[in-house]
Formats: sequence, C-alpha cells, structure tokens
Amino acid sequence: MSPTDRITKTREQLLERYESLDNKADILKARELKELFGVIPSLEPHERAAYGQAVNALSVELKTMVASAQSLHDKDLPDIDVTAPFDVNAEVPELLSAGHGSIHPLMQEVARLTDIFQRMGFVVEESREIDDQYHMFESLNFPKGHPARDDYDTFMTEEKDANGDQFIAPAHTSTMQNRILKKYRNDLESGDAIAAVVPDRVFRNEDLDARHEHTFYQVEGIYVAKGVHAGMLIATLQRFLEEYYGKSLNVRVNPFYFPFTEPSFEFALSCPFCEGKNPDCKVCSGEGWVELLGCGMIHPNVLKAASIDPNEYTGFAFGCGIDRLVMMKYNIEDVRHFESAKLDFLRQFS
Ligand code: PHE
Repeated sequence: MSPTDRITKTREQLLERYESLDNKADILKARELKELFGVIPSLEPHERAAYGQAVNALSVELKTMVASAQSLHDKDLPDIDVTAPFDVNAEVPELLSAGHGSIHPLMQEVARLTDIFQRMGFVVEESREIDDQYHMFESLNFPKGHPARDDYDTFMTEEKDANGDQFIAPAHTSTMQNRILKKYRNDLESGDAIAAVVPDRVFRNEDLDARHEHTFYQVEGIYVAKGVHAGMLIATLQRFLEEYYGKSLNVRVNPFYFPFTEPSFEFALSCPFCEGKNPDCKVCSGEGWVELLGCGMIHPNVLKAASIDPNEYTGFAFGCGIDRLVMMKYNIEDVRHFESAKLDFLRQFS
C-alpha cells in the first residue's frame, strides 16, 4: 500500500471510530494517527512534503470535529426534540430568559402593532404561506386574465388545486379578506361590526434592492358594518400611525386603483423624521411625505363573494407594509437586513 493510500484508509477507519466514541477527544490519541506521523522519517525526501501535508490535514480535520462537538456541548443547549409540537408561547420566553437568542425586530414590531389594533377593537387573524388563486385573485374581483394580476407576480407551486390552478405564495394579506368576511358575517346580523387585522408574511417575485425583498410583511385591516365611510378609514389609519410612532402626524390620500376596493387610495403620512423640514431627508427624499399603504372602500363584488349584501353593509380595507413602517421607525436603510441573519444587525434589537 502506498503511503497516501494508507492515509486514506486510516482516515476512513478513524472517522468511523469517531462516531462511536463517547468522549470525542479520544480520537486525537489514536494509535493509527501517531503511526502515520511516525512514517515520515522513513520516506524518500521528495515524498515527505506531500505526505506530511496530508497527515497534517487529517489531524486538523479531526481536531476541528472535536472542537465543534465540544463547543456545542459547552453551550449546554437545551435538549430539544425537534419532532415534538413546538409551543411558541411557552417555549420561546423560556429560551430567551435562558439567554438563547432574541426576538426578531419585525416580530417585536408585529407584537406592538397588533396590540394597538386590539386596543382599537380589531381581532387578529393569521394568513397562510401557500394559498389558492381563488383567494389571491377571484374572490378579490380580479377575474382570470385581469391585467392587474401582473402587479402581484409571485411564486407558484407545480401542484394544482381542484380548479386546475397552481397554488401560490400569497403576494398580499388581502387573500384573507374573503375568509374573514365569511367567518364573521353572522356578527353583522347581530349588529356588531367585522373588525379584523392580519399581520403576516407575503411574497413577491422582485428584483432585490434596498427597498424590495421577495419576502416581507403586511398588515391587512378589514372593517365592515352599516354606514361605514372613507372618513372612518382615514381616521382609523391616522390614529393607528400616531400611536405607533408616538407623535401627531398629518396624512394625505391620493386616488389609486385596486380591483378589490372602490374608491381606492394611496395613503401617505407626513415624514415622521423631518416633518418636511429637511430637503436632504433620506426617508422622504425631502418631499415631506411618505407613501405607506394602499386602502379603500371594499368593492361590492368582494362583499358579494362572501354573501354579504353590499346594499346593506359597507366596509373599508387597508394593506400596509410592515417592513417599511419599521424601517422608518428605526431609520433602517436597507430592507434586506431583516432576512439577512446578520447577528450584528439583529443584536441591536435584543
Ligand atoms: N393588497 C394591496 C397590496 O398589497 C393593498 C390593499 C389592501 C389595498 C387592502 C386596498 C385594500 O398592494
């Protein structure tokens, strides 16, 4: 057997033995490893360098395996059964108080903003990470072939639903409108309003840059009752934003288009950073206004799709990008930080 074949063979033996050792560090004392080193003086001078390097590489490989096994052990991580159901509410606080990790800044802000909406009387619902095209489009008054579908280019699965349409990673939280309207429509008959928010993850096929991510968060708001009008929409959003930013703000609405609201608006607020006083402000580009969300009065066809009579009830809806809200609050310059898993970014929020 050539000297290098011998290294290869010994390596295989040692790796196999390593797996069965209780004390991993014992592998570094293996007789075979010493023997490999012991061969060096008997080799021809021209063989020594390559052989020596190969034995050294094996020794470093084993030392690295031992060191990483020990460092995992030293941290004394809790014994987690990954197959067991995970109770976020019970286990995350326990892990945090034991000093393991911190809550992601977006999740901290989602908790803050849902708290505000709950105090305003909204219930909180979750969205889905895979949905169907009925909820993404048809129920929202985008029939097949509608050109506005192109504004919501997102990811699809190869699998198809019973209608023969591919499943879809939702491009907005409006996918939950139809479900929420149906779930709570009986409340309308008993005289209560439907009032729900959906803070959750959405996906788009974007060219990534400092302001665009393929995965981000929105909070959807839905309010339906008798006699709801656009003034109530604007007042609700203004109240929420003032509470969130902790200061009074001016708001501006401009006409816009969404298939599922009529009329539709683009909603801007006075720049919470410079209030229009800094022509060099990076947040509002010196304009004094920041476009923040889309909103409008729920289209009669959307109410009808949930068997709610639009002659009797009206409602408003809004969809606000959470990442942008948070970026403005903390002066974060690049949306990609959120999904980057950069610890130096995340630790600033722990
Ligand atoms: N879903 C829209 C979007 O993401 C925003 C929106 C929600 C507009 C609700 C109107 C009503 O672009």
